[in-house]
Amino acid sequence: MFDSLRKKWKVGGVQLLLIIATFAIGGSLTGYAGKKIMNHLPLVPDWLWTLIYIALITLLWPVAVLLVSFPLGQYRFFSKYIRRILFKMGFHSMKAGELPKKHIAIFASGAGSNAQKIIDHFRGHPTIRVVLIVCNKPGAGVLNIAIKEGIPALIIETERFFRGDSYLPEMEDASIDLIVLAGFLWKVPSALIQKYPERIINIHPALLPEFGGKGMYGANVHSAVLAAAKKQSGISIHLVDDQYDHGKVLFQANCPVQEGDTIESLTQRIHALEHLHYAPEIEKYIKENV
Ligand code: GRF
Repeated sequence: MFDSLRKKWKVGGVQLLLIIATFAIGGSLTGYAGKKIMNHLPLVPDWLWTLIYIALITLLWPVAVLLVSFPLGQYRFFSKYIRRILFKMGFHSMKAGELPKKHIAIFASGAGSNAQKIIDHFRGHPTIRVVLIVCNKPGAGVLNIAIKEGIPALIIETERFFRGDSYLPEMEDASIDLIVLAGFLWKVPSALIQKYPERIINIHPALLPEFGGKGMYGANVHSAVLAAAKKQSGISIHLVDDQYDHGKVLFQANCPVQEGDTIESLTQRIHALEHLHYAPEIEKYIKENV
């Protein structure tokens, strides 16, 4: 349970203890202050007393928790936490800029048609934003998309990515919550995987576990599917671990492989599936897990 909380809130062990302490002290303080205030209440029927007490506790709790969070150094965490609760309760009238946002970095090496769909999907989204495009190929189409959309782009190079700090400082500066691979051909280094456990998602243009692994990308995948005379292909959206195309599959969708299909025709059909499903599945994953 502690481990899943740590992952959910993206905090270390010590911070988790401080957060739990804040909850506990804040909660007791709320109870204590609530009782004290209620003692001054004139005599009212029991049902009204209970109603007033619940309302009072609901109002006091955020204040108490925020107060306690200061000395324990957890103010940032709790102010975000409380804003998220308010948002879930329907207080959408807060200014959009004040809402806690989940930040996505898209890693892409190619044309970027999936990146474009993801950007389109989250444009104007109240709680999720694409804030960074990461690309290893100067001149790749996805960089033009970044310019057109006004999204910062980071061009990465081999040495630093694989043998240096893996651009973790840039990820932290942009407060990245989720990394989305959309046609990113490099293997993700373990430093990034450790920093973002279960927070890196990939889309693969076939039905994993078949037709995955090293060298299985783009046309290679479709040509292998055709060579195996498969009647069906599809897409797999999965978590990224330290092996190619191996992490837990989150979602799959199928399409037929038709008589006379070529690599191009199959690519098109698969792309259509990707464009339909990737962004909504990312949104679902963020809402449930991030
Ligand atoms: C997609 O087919 C995706 O499945 C694979 O790379 C391709 C990227 O295409 N991982 P695009 O650059 O998004 O058009």
